[in-house]
Amino acid sequence: MNERAKVTDTAPIPAVPTLPDAQTVTAVQHWTDRLFSFRVTRPQSLRFRSGEFVMIGLMGDNGKPLLRAYSIASPNWDEELEFYSIKVPDGPLTSKLQHIQPGDEIILRPKPVGTLVLDALLPGKRLWFLATGTGIAPFASLMRDPETYEKYEQVIMMHTCREQAELEYGRKLVEDLQNDPLIGEMVEGKLLYYPTTTREDGPKMGRITDNLSSGKVFADLDLPPMDPATDRAMVCGSLDFNTDVKAVLEGFGLREGANSDPQEYVVEKAFVGEGV
Ligand code: FAD
Ligand code: A2P
Repeated sequence: MNERAKVTDTAPIPAVPTLPDAQTVTAVQHWTDRLFSFRVTRPQSLRFRSGEFVMIGLMGDNGKPLLRAYSIASPNWDEELEFYSIKVPDGPLTSKLQHIQPGDEIILRPKPVGTLVLDALLPGKRLWFLATGTGIAPFASLMRDPETYEKYEQVIMMHTCREQAELEYGRKLVEDLQNDPLIGEMVEGKLLYYPTTTREDGPKMGRITDNLSSGKVFADLDLPPMDPATDRAMVCGSLDFNTDVKAVLEGFGLREGANSDPQEYVVEKAFVGEGV
């Protein structure tokens, strides 16, 4: 048998799901020692709206599923599902999840929900995505959904992290989107990316709240200040971030909406903090 045939004969066979609601990991990428992304197979029956979240996890040592909420970072047309995750050193789930490899299985409950969906906003001209840290995950989905650009003339992605390396997942995603043969043309001139750092020098700096309140982001992007007649916003970060951004948006006259009551902005927690 020649070398080539040998390789073909021993090529790995995709794992057969054995857990209830099991999906197979197809790719894993580590961005920093605290951040990674991964892709899994998508259940054939799973329909979701870009921006929604699902419960995913692993089987715990006690034989019970250990599940956490995760935004689906891939758009609804993608044949796989992508997630962008924190690694909490002592976190019950992520201390284990960070070690997954292609071929491993995770549990995925196929019941998508969430408020960061286009349907929860009234029609408008400009759509602002405001995120810190892993809060960019739902917008990674919405930025890659053509419907976002059909509904809005401009889409502005503001993402803030402490350090440059933490912005890399979003930076690469936007770059790939702009170079994409299919969607690239659609986002050209429409998607404005505004990444900032707060604890490491970089091309652009400052908290999202400060850059909105001072008018810096409007001046930098040559946009008028937010106006409830034209601007819509989606917010995803820590509880403190969400609270402070809400106050800024209300200051511009925008009102909070929900699936059942579409208005000018919507909010979701990127995670539940300690003691909250
Ligand atoms: P946990 O016991 O859940 O958390 C321990 C502590 O770590 C928390 O108290 C908090 O202080 C901190 N922490 C948890 N998650 C984060 C985070 N994402 N960023 C910064 N600090 C954090 N996490 C993701 O990584 N990606 C997502 O797309 C995502 N989507 C979410 C959507 C919703 C609606 C909610 C409520 C949470 C989401 N989370 C997401 C958080 C996620 O559910 C878990 O908390 C996280 O995976 C850590 O799990 P754990 O069991 O290791 O630690
Ligand atoms: P800063 O470095 O000034 O605290 P964290 O890692 O603590 O979750 O923060 C992620 C990013 O969100 C950091 O850049 C942080 O800025 C910023 N941030 C944290 N809290 C707020 C808030 N209440 N308003 C605006 N930005 C915030």
